[in-house]
Amino acid sequence: MINDKLKEEIQRRRTFAIISHPDAGKTTLTEKFLLYGGAIQAAGAVKGKASDRHAVSDWMDLEKQRGISITSSVLQFEYKGMCINILDTPGHQDFSEDTYRTLMAADSAVMVIDAAKGIEPQTRKLFKVCAMRDIPIFTFINKMDREARDPFDLLDELEHEFGIGTYPMNWPIGSGHDFKGVYDRELRAILAFSDSHRGRERLNAIKCEMTDTDKLDELIGEKLRTRLNEEVELVEGASFDFDLDAVRHGKLSPVFFGSALNNFGIESFLESFLRMTTPPLPRVAGEEEIDPFSEDFSAFVFKIQANMNKAHRDRIAFMRICSGRFDRNSEYYHVQGGRSLRLSQPQQMMAQEREVIDEAYAGDIIGVFDPGIFSIGDTVCSKNHKIRFEGIPTFAPEHFAMVEQVDSMKRKQFAKGMTQIAQEGAIQIFFEPNSGMERVIVGAVGVLQFEVLDYRIKNEYGCDLRRMPLPYQQIRWIKDQSLDPKTLKLSHDTKWVQDVKGRNLLIFTSPWSIKWILDDNPGLELEEFSRNS
Ligand code: G4P
Repeated sequence: MINDKLKEEIQRRRTFAIISHPDAGKTTLTEKFLLYGGAIQAAGAVKGKASDRHAVSDWMDLEKQRGISITSSVLQFEYKGMCINILDTPGHQDFSEDTYRTLMAADSAVMVIDAAKGIEPQTRKLFKVCAMRDIPIFTFINKMDREARDPFDLLDELEHEFGIGTYPMNWPIGSGHDFKGVYDRELRAILAFSDSHRGRERLNAIKCEMTDTDKLDELIGEKLRTRLNEEVELVEGASFDFDLDAVRHGKLSPVFFGSALNNFGIESFLESFLRMTTPPLPRVAGEEEIDPFSEDFSAFVFKIQANMNKAHRDRIAFMRICSGRFDRNSEYYHVQGGRSLRLSQPQQMMAQEREVIDEAYAGDIIGVFDPGIFSIGDTVCSKNHKIRFEGIPTFAPEHFAMVEQVDSMKRKQFAKGMTQIAQEGAIQIFFEPNSGMERVIVGAVGVLQFEVLDYRIKNEYGCDLRRMPLPYQQIRWIKDQSLDPKTLKLSHDTKWVQDVKGRNLLIFTSPWSIKWILDDNPGLELEEFSRNS
């Protein structure tokens, strides 16, 4: 029965994003997942060694740049009968709005934290976006084989900074040279660590019951055993109760300690994670809740990758399938374009390879050829059941510049280029009220996006532009759009601008100016994200 196959396929899908600050170990952890899934033979295959990684100077080589983000966008692999989609959230220089938008396609997130550092700026930003959707967040505290911060401190930081509960699934025994393994709270036993494998193979931790004192002393020594007993007692007494429902609503984060490089704690993490997460959940479209198991296909575009091939100005639109089954030969309905279409050259990333596919299911991510018709947030669905998913929010840019064209004869090309690049979502453009297209304010999440903009406007649209940095760092949309911004009391370091949809917003030079404006204008409500529809 087709229906049974559909159910079965969707039931076994898990789609999650990995979030972290650069260098916490996201790539290493992903590699180990693939290793367990049998998708790669040896670690070190996801991306090259640090020395091969692309330096800043390479970044203007856009082909290479796009190559990187394409292959690392999404990976699919099988593990014990499950079909797992991992969404990568690029960091380093390519941190951009795309990084945030990718989180819209995930059903849960794995947050990797460096045990010596705790929460870092990029973790903080990505967490906020996950929290906005209440998706489950699983924390992996990595690099326990190095000197680490006190585990209680780390949990405390997560709870206080992020306002979530934490539930340690295991508890570390020492760290750095003294790292001896973890106490597994479910098994009520320790899993002892040996670094002899250096992570090349699957590691079978040595299991030992807590009651077996002699063996414990042999494995971790009397001093660490005594400390472990005390700490476990504290953890059992003081930590939150385990509550699967709270986990699934992003209110309680299960925390795992381990070492990705040494392959320690990865398999138990993966298994617990798969047990606690659910298959794709319903998504909202207007008043309707779309059942992922429904036979009607639906998907939304969360990322557009421009000009993969210089010869043709083509783009790839990445879609998250929300319900049903995608069939390469069927016609679907593009809601925003108001017409039926076949999605051409559908492809998926299987470990390293990009392959053209014939079918895919709810939970999967597919990339399709885009002749320039899709925008971020668009819905594609079955012709029999037309729906429209809620748009993807616009994320707050943190860098601003004033951009003007140099040659006034090229007004048209400049306007077209700026509009198209903004429509792809690579930059955001803003206007001073009542101004035209000759001078625009550009906002970007990552500063590299400005360089990409200069390059593309010159190479694709033949215009030179003049770009002057602006001191603004924060942006807030005015909640009540019927309010006349001229009536607001604004300080000299705050500017009123409008987005492409004519919505009023304010840009600020510091978080303090936001506070002053709110204090000076009682009743004013500001929003960090702008909901698109
Ligand atoms: P990222 O994707 O989050 O940026 O981090 P990545 O996995 O690239 O890891 C960053 C560095 O941390 C790498 O070292 C990696 O080997 C190391 N690392 C990851 N997990 C662990 C761990 O559990 N323990 C220890 N001690 N190190 C870990 P690198 O020297 O920058 O690169 P490489 O030459 O090892 O590839």
